[in-house]
Amino acid sequence: MGRERGGILISFEGIEKVGKTTQIGRLSAWLGAQGFTPRVLREPGGTMLGESLRSLLLHSGEIKNPEAELLLFAAARAELVTEVIRPSLSRGEIVILDRFADSSVAYQGFGRGIDVKWIRILNQHVTEGLRPDITFLLQGPSFYHGDDNIEKSGQEFFQRVEAGYNTMVAEDPSRWHVIPSARPIDEVAKVIQSVVKSYLVEDRSRQG
Ligand code: TMP
Repeated sequence: MGRERGGILISFEGIEKVGKTTQIGRLSAWLGAQGFTPRVLREPGGTMLGESLRSLLLHSGEIKNPEAELLLFAAARAELVTEVIRPSLSRGEIVILDRFADSSVAYQGFGRGIDVKWIRILNQHVTEGLRPDITFLLQGPSFYHGDDNIEKSGQEFFQRVEAGYNTMVAEDPSRWHVIPSARPIDEVAKVIQSVVKSYLVEDRSRQG
């Protein structure tokens, strides 16, 4: 699917503070050394609306209604897809996302208890059917401190989120790569690089 629309979309998922951002930095640097200029984006964020919604969702007063929370994440996603992700992919770029639509399924669906089917329909609309080519699920000890609105949701919430991620992996094992993160950063980075490298080689052969 990568080539049909130009570039390649890679997403990182997992609960907070399992090392996603560090590994995204490593992957981006490695791709840079291979001659690519990857575009790194985070959700919510990456646009003016997305960054405003990020501070509203994470750092303003708690949002009481989970549906409202879901729709704000979805609004940030819609803007990011049309304004940044689609244009980057159509220029043939590699886009690396620090979270994407799967986060809403995990957090608002499995975590908050909103109907997962409805979240998937909403995601389908706001992403215009866009799905990552590769998704890394980082799993390991999490060092979150309860600093923001989501982190304050408690241990049981995060257990449901993790279980939700495992369900998604089981449903679509070819897209998801589960990466244990409780290892030296360089080792984790190499595993991620090898997955991306294989994808790039296959992608090149798909292009003929
Ligand atoms: P982070 O990207 O720094 O981890 O912060 C984003 C927070 O927002 C994190 O707690 C996960 C949460 N989140 C959702 O609950 N739903 C979503 O759809 C997204 C993208 C993030």
